[in-house]
Amino acid sequence: MEVLHCSFECYPAAKVGGLADVAGSLPKYLNQAEISSALIMPKFDTAWLNQASLIEDYAGSFRWYNGEVNYRVLREEKNTLGFSLYVVELDELFYRKGIYVSEQGYGYRDEIERYVAFQLSVLNWLKQFENKPSLIHAHDHHCGLIPMMIRNSTEYKELKNIRTVFTIHNGLYQGAFSWEKKYLLPYLPANTFGLLDWNHAINPMATAVKCADAVTTVSNGYKQELMQYANGLESLFRQEQKKFYGFINGIDDEVWNPANDKYISHHIKSNDVSAFKAANKKALCKEYSLDSTKPLFAFIGRLVMEKGADLIPDAVNEFLKDNDAQFLFLGSGASDIEYALRRLATIHSDKVYFIQGYNEPLAHRLYASADFLLMPSRIEPCGLNQMYAMHYGTIPIVNNTGGLHDTVYDITESMPRGIKMNKVNANELLNAMSRALSLYRHEPVMNSIRQEIIKIDFSWTNTVKPYIQLYSTLFKLQTDI
Ligand code: GLC
Repeated sequence: MEVLHCSFECYPAAKVGGLADVAGSLPKYLNQAEISSALIMPKFDTAWLNQASLIEDYAGSFRWYNGEVNYRVLREEKNTLGFSLYVVELDELFYRKGIYVSEQGYGYRDEIERYVAFQLSVLNWLKQFENKPSLIHAHDHHCGLIPMMIRNSTEYKELKNIRTVFTIHNGLYQGAFSWEKKYLLPYLPANTFGLLDWNHAINPMATAVKCADAVTTVSNGYKQELMQYANGLESLFRQEQKKFYGFINGIDDEVWNPANDKYISHHIKSNDVSAFKAANKKALCKEYSLDSTKPLFAFIGRLVMEKGADLIPDAVNEFLKDNDAQFLFLGSGASDIEYALRRLATIHSDKVYFIQGYNEPLAHRLYASADFLLMPSRIEPCGLNQMYAMHYGTIPIVNNTGGLHDTVYDITESMPRGIKMNKVNANELLNAMSRALSLYRHEPVMNSIRQEIIKIDFSWTNTVKPYIQLYSTLFKLQTDI
């Protein structure tokens, strides 16, 4: 193994958001490009992991504040995902249905313990390897202490030469915790405390930014934003910008492929996007008793402020006063937004559907059938949904931020791909939907945009390249040590 990815999510084993999609596909495409890669995550109580055939790779223990913790590392035997998937079995902390919070939405009281124990399990497992990986690629703050621990803790001196890359999928969540919990960490010399500290707390994201050999985030647009505003870390990002990169994510076109997607009813044939869209839309409209001759807007994702989901109920209600269109919302999140969408669906029962929850097959069918995808995110480090949408000929309506800024060009620009809002408020969204409706009425223009967007190559085959380049620079550094 050359590269070991560490992540709290990995599709299809456990998914909350886009991190899972990236963690579940990047190692596969690295392997295809001959960079031998594996991933390790906690073993949660999910259907996929419960059914997977897992075999023991290691049984060990690590010293922790209250004694010795026993755990096992298991490997998914069949390599189903196109890379070796390892899971840390420590049931007391990880064997739960909710990944970060309980199924009912309550935070876990032992949240910090869970993140720290995962990282210690990984490092203790690696210690006994004869052939250690050349590089650890840690994702988000849950794994943010790894680069610092392998460099500074005598406990892990065997791992000292492993290079580290840290990727930020969301800079808002930094995992900060009180110094009172320092006892959770292994012994560290006092001169390293400054590496842990940010604003009088232990901040794993800040620590990773200081200690990793390279830091990446998931688009160039978001990288620029983080240097301006990052919940208090902006000056650190500016300070470390020499080793800070913005690499756009890719999509897994073995999972997301309009020509053979197992979840959709009609596949694309002879590049006929119009026929592809029409057939899928008809099938979906039949299922939901909708009218396939009318425009169909979809929203797929978490119903939270960050995604601008709070703007949707008012904007859509207003829009439907003067316009005839249909809406399908798929997602879950803040209870007030869920309530507002439920209400909207009751008021406009023949035009609006709200499907609460996470439903991967339906998401595929929505991308294949909808005319427009609503994505008015306030913050979007990369965003994968707009890429899935374009890959299925659906025109995205996005706010001009982060990865949406980098991947979507407005219909007034030279290579139109979608509709962009320049501010995030319900009026702007209303305005964007009206622009979408005019586009819908100009069928030839709409079709030519669809023809273009479906051809764009968003796949990892391309986007994996900057990672490979970065790794090889770091591998060279390693041999120089
Ligand atoms: C997070 C971000 C999203 C990004 C994903 C994968 O979920 O919010 O924008 O696409 O991570 O990097």
